[in-house]
Amino acid sequence: MERSAEKLELDLPGDPRAGLCTMARDLVGSEILRIGSEIRTAKTRGEKICDLTVGDFSSKEFPIPDKLREGILRALAAGETNYPPSDGVLRLREAVREFYRRTLSLDVPLESVLIAGGSRPLIFATYAALVDPGDIVLYPVPSWNNNHYCHLVGAKGIPLTTRPEDGFLPTAGLIEPHVRSARLIALNTPLNPAGTVLPAQALKRICEAVVSENERRARAREKPLYVLYDQVYWMLTFGEARHETPVQLVPRMAPYTVFIDGISKAFAATGLRVGWGVGPKAVIAAMKDLLGHIGAWAPRAEQVATAELLRDEAALRSYGATHRSSLQGRLDRLHEGLSAMAAAGLPVRDIPPQGAIYLSIQFDLIGRRGFRTNDDVRRFLLREAGFAVVPFQAFGLAGENGWFRSSVGAVSVRDIDEALPRVEAALRKALA
Ligand SMILES: Cc1ncc(COP(=O)(O)O)c(C=O)c1O
Repeated sequence: MERSAEKLELDLPGDPRAGLCTMARDLVGSEILRIGSEIRTAKTRGEKICDLTVGDFSSKEFPIPDKLREGILRALAAGETNYPPSDGVLRLREAVREFYRRTLSLDVPLESVLIAGGSRPLIFATYAALVDPGDIVLYPVPSWNNNHYCHLVGAKGIPLTTRPEDGFLPTAGLIEPHVRSARLIALNTPLNPAGTVLPAQALKRICEAVVSENERRARAREKPLYVLYDQVYWMLTFGEARHETPVQLVPRMAPYTVFIDGISKAFAATGLRVGWGVGPKAVIAAMKDLLGHIGAWAPRAEQVATAELLRDEAALRSYGATHRSSLQGRLDRLHEGLSAMAAAGLPVRDIPPQGAIYLSIQFDLIGRRGFRTNDDVRRFLLREAGFAVVPFQAFGLAGENGWFRSSVGAVSVRDIDEALPRVEAALRKALA
């Protein structure tokens, strides 16, 4: 006999959040996702919007490699549906190791490779394995989510403000004054949100500062300073830009570097959830135990298929060439259109694209005709031009400076071509 379900009152009386711990109560959700969902709602209302907000891909514009899709289906059919080993499927760990040896000249032991459900869990695990509550973490701003990871582990984050003339990338001069007190430096290149690439010289100087600080710490028997090196966009560089790694430039960085990487961006596979971390064995072992308790493993079939993909040099080459040129084509189109507006005297500038899936744009409207904040500008562009971008404040950069991230993974060249005249008209209207 069916019983009628009683409607349960699940909220605490008064403040429903009163039961949360301090960390959870003070946790801030992603501003980017908030803006992204606002745009999605507007689109479902039928508004025409060039959505440059979310750092994701449309699977129509950017399909995953055939090899990956077919490999997953084959692996599922072959029964690869159980728990994976907690450090990842052996075939994939070996494939990552070979891939790094082949493409980045990094030769690491197998115990240095850990697989997880995307790179986010690995970033969290790096923080959690290295940082005690109250420890100092340095991170440049704008950058992606370091403020949130600091909050999760109770770190004292020190955001270091970078400059547009440096492509919003950190310099040794910015980091050196804090090196003595820090436990971890979080670096990301190619950079989300700026779409710029850390030059070899700047990275080398940062690494040399870390190595010399660690020599001092070794003598003083203090814990070393580590670098979290998030290179999830490293396969996506354009033109002259070249991706470098700390360990290639300064081999003595090997004991202090944790690499973060994965398939999300390089293979437009954000929903498949496969990432890898590569680093010192003891750190990786601690991360493995931590993620094991959370169960943040990558699905087994996806791991098996990723191993096959990473081993297939021809598939990587051909997918990589198409993927890069599709991204670069969109970024260049945006850059050229905005540069033409700047040349025509309109208040906009951008940084030429070097990598990742982003373009930094400054709409220099603050202080003119009622524009007081970046959010005023954002809303104006959305309303007048159906042009949706994310202010750099969502990446921890304080100040109403008119800088925005635009992400091209979910738009077509046509979307961009159609949006540019609308942006131009909006800017002219703002000046009128
Ligand atoms: C710099 C950076 N690191 C890591 C990630 C997370 O990627 P994943 O999908 O592998 O968790 C992102 C996603 O936007 C990112 O921009």
